[in-house]
Amino acid sequence: MPTFFLPTLLLLLIAFATSVSGRRDLVGDFLRLPSETDNDDNFKGTRWAVLLAGSNGYWNYRHQADVCHAYQILRKGGLKEENIIVFMYDDIAFNGENPRPGVIINKPDGGDVYKGVPKDYTGEDVTVDNFFAALLGNKSALTGGSGKVVDSGPDDHIFVYYTDHGGPGVLGMPAGPYLYADDLIEVLKKKHASGTYKNLVFYLEACESGSIFEGLLPEDINIYATTASNAEESSWGTYCPGEYPSPPPEYTTCLGDLYSVAWMEDRYVHNKQS
Ligand SMILES: *[C@@H]1O[C@H](CO)[C@@H](O)[C@H](O)[C@H]1NC(C)=O
Repeated sequence: MPTFFLPTLLLLLIAFATSVSGRRDLVGDFLRLPSETDNDDNFKGTRWAVLLAGSNGYWNYRHQADVCHAYQILRKGGLKEENIIVFMYDDIAFNGENPRPGVIINKPDGGDVYKGVPKDYTGEDVTVDNFFAALLGNKSALTGGSGKVVDSGPDDHIFVYYTDHGGPGVLGMPAGPYLYADDLIEVLKKKHASGTYKNLVFYLEACESGSIFEGLLPEDINIYATTASNAEESSWGTYCPGEYPSPPPEYTTCLGDLYSVAWMEDRYVHNKQS
């Protein structure tokens, strides 16, 4: 699979780099609407995150690697484990094909990102219904899992990060039915109507991911969504065998996704500069 920077991604990165320059609060940078200028001293709420890898299988290593890496970044940025809800199939770390048992990496020379990641919703519990229930904070709608939900209030900031395969108006899920754009938008509207966030930032990595929000997401519900591609483009894996940079030779799978590692590795660049 070729790896190249899509024009939209470049624009996104430029916009993003501009919005974070000079700031020191890394996690705050992407849990805040770009229009917001209030600094952390004024922040009264709780920061929440929902991380979801929508695939399973060793060939999809990269999605769960992305999610584990995101978890580590959020923890370093000060979010508590109790406020981060992780959905991942969890069949990678101890997969028979994983050359480093018990370890997941998200870049060729990267360290383990798996250690400490909570197993909130794994295996057959990674479903659309559980994702929606967790987002809406509705414990009685859950099936299985840890029971952790976004129990947020009106001052809180919510970050949602979803990485997987997708198509026009649809996103993958490892167990059970797919996630459809119109259902997701309804849930986001419902969350807004419940008055349980100040703003919500949605990062979405999937092919044709623009189609999930374009023309569908209302502009007045304090949700800021960015996607890896527009409604008609592919998104791309990275650190793939045979490409440069390559994963270590014992890996026969991609370690990350281009858009996802771009925003996550961007954290470190700005961290060093500030
Ligand atoms: C929570 O989920 C249950 C079961 O699906 C549903 O009956 C109930 O209406 C939901 N509660 C809210 C506040 O949405």
